Amino acid sequence: MSEELRISQGNKEEKYAALLPQIKSVVEDEPDLIACMANVASMLHETFGWWWTGFYRVVNEELVLGPFQGPMACTRIRRGRGVCGTAWDKDETQVVPDVEKFPGHIACSSASRSEIVVPVHDKEGQVIAVLDIDSAELATFDETDKEWLEKIASIL
Ligand code: SME
Repeated sequence: MSEELRISQGNKEEKYAALLPQIKSVVEDEPDLIACMANVASMLHETFGWWWTGFYRVVNEELVLGPFQGPMACTRIRRGRGVCGTAWDKDETQVVPDVEKFPGHIACSSASRSEIVVPVHDKEGQVIAVLDIDSAELATFDETDKEWLEKIASIL
């Protein structure tokens, strides 16, 4: 594919639909997971203009900061802690409309108001990372984001 991201001008659904084949083509022949995560974080961030878009990887029973776009963030998160640690522990996407109402939310940035965290699995179904996206506005993420971001996480 060309090295330039094509961003749909449509609604959220149309943006995801235009983005998915571009992400597929970027990751399909690239075996290096970190390189793939870096491009996926960039492509999502450029398309939607969120506050923070990135990955935490499971390393020795902890989440460790991976490729991201946005301000600097916490480096390590323990299992079950915050939204990311909960998504990993429960192996379940977490959609958080208001981070202040999520018990144990880890505030890496006070500008973050809502959040979605999606587990990323290996071929055996083990959680190997989470995709964490933060918005500076309340209630940014819904079932549409969950559905499309889970699709994106599944092709990594
Ligand atoms: N808010 C996250 C921590 C990571 S930062 O948002 C980048 C959480 O509670 O898991």
